[in-house]
Amino acid sequence: MNTVTQLKPKSVSRMKTLISKNISVKPLNLQGEMGATVGSIHADNPRITCRNVNVFYGENHAIQDINLDIGTNEVISLIGPSGCGKSTFLRCLNRMNDTVESCRVNGEIKIDDVDVYSKHMDVVPLRAQVGMVFQKPNPFPKSIYDNIAYGPKIHGLASTKAELDQIVESSLRKAGLWDEVKDRLDQPGTGLSGGQQQRLCIARTLSVEPEVILMDEPCSALDPIATAKIEQLIDELRQRYTIAIVTHSMQQAARVSQRTAYFHLGKLIEVGKTSDVFTNPLHELTQDYITGRFG
Ligand SMILES: Nc1ncnc2c1ncn2[C@@H]1O[C@H](COP(=O)(O)OP(=O)(O)OP(=O)(O)O)[C@@H](O)[C@H]1O
Ligand SMILES: [Mg+2]
Repeated sequence: MNTVTQLKPKSVSRMKTLISKNISVKPLNLQGEMGATVGSIHADNPRITCRNVNVFYGENHAIQDINLDIGTNEVISLIGPSGCGKSTFLRCLNRMNDTVESCRVNGEIKIDDVDVYSKHMDVVPLRAQVGMVFQKPNPFPKSIYDNIAYGPKIHGLASTKAELDQIVESSLRKAGLWDEVKDRLDQPGTGLSGGQQQRLCIARTLSVEPEVILMDEPCSALDPIATAKIEQLIDELRQRYTIAIVTHSMQQAARVSQRTAYFHLGKLIEVGKTSDVFTNPLHELTQDYITGRFG
């Protein structure tokens, strides 16, 4: 079902006035509905479905009524101004927000029809199934080998040393790092360059056989060459995994993702094919952001 709608010019200017006065408003669409997302929230072959997701930090309503599918083997970019809730939304998908005491999540998030917020859900295997790569590379203070071997060991994925060696090698290969580190596996992971550390963290995520990979600004601490390597890697990983990536770089979103979701003040304003969102945005707020007039 396509829910394409557009703001009336009048309601846009009203909204801009209110935003400039720092008052939270719900956008009106042509049907007069409150807060509906422009574009299709649906993916052809959804791996993750989010319905009416709200997140609160105490009184702060940080994520408001988000509906979004994330498709199998797609890369979706989450973009929007600082503080609009991109990281908060991403962290809902593998319950990383559970670690924040003031945080309350409601609504429904399903991965392959399994309810992520079911009280029976064990978050340890969930966070392996839905792995996360952070903005700043965060290798463990261990050897390169042990950085990768740690997860498979605690998840019982290898029964012999040879099997563990195999997982370490294949994870490093998938992350495009094997050739650079194969002769120094016993050296500290923290001794690698920033770009290598980030690929080490990606290899660590891959070592526990994830299905979904969440990336929160994975290249923002990297130089253009390391960034290009990670972007190429994301494109390769898409063949096997589903990837959601938060980025402040519109060029990066355009290069790596098939769909793009634009967030603004905790709401999902627009979602669609990346090429459409960047060349023909339907919502004026999206247009303002991608043309640099906001954020
Ligand atoms: N741990 C937390 N405790 C309380 N409030 C939080 C916490 N994390 C985020 N918030 C609040 O939730 C809102 C959304 O923040 P979030 O970090 O998700 O935004 P973001 O879009 O990722 O921003 P940025 O681009 O700067 O990373 C903000 O108002 C922020 O202050
Ligand atoms: Mg963030």
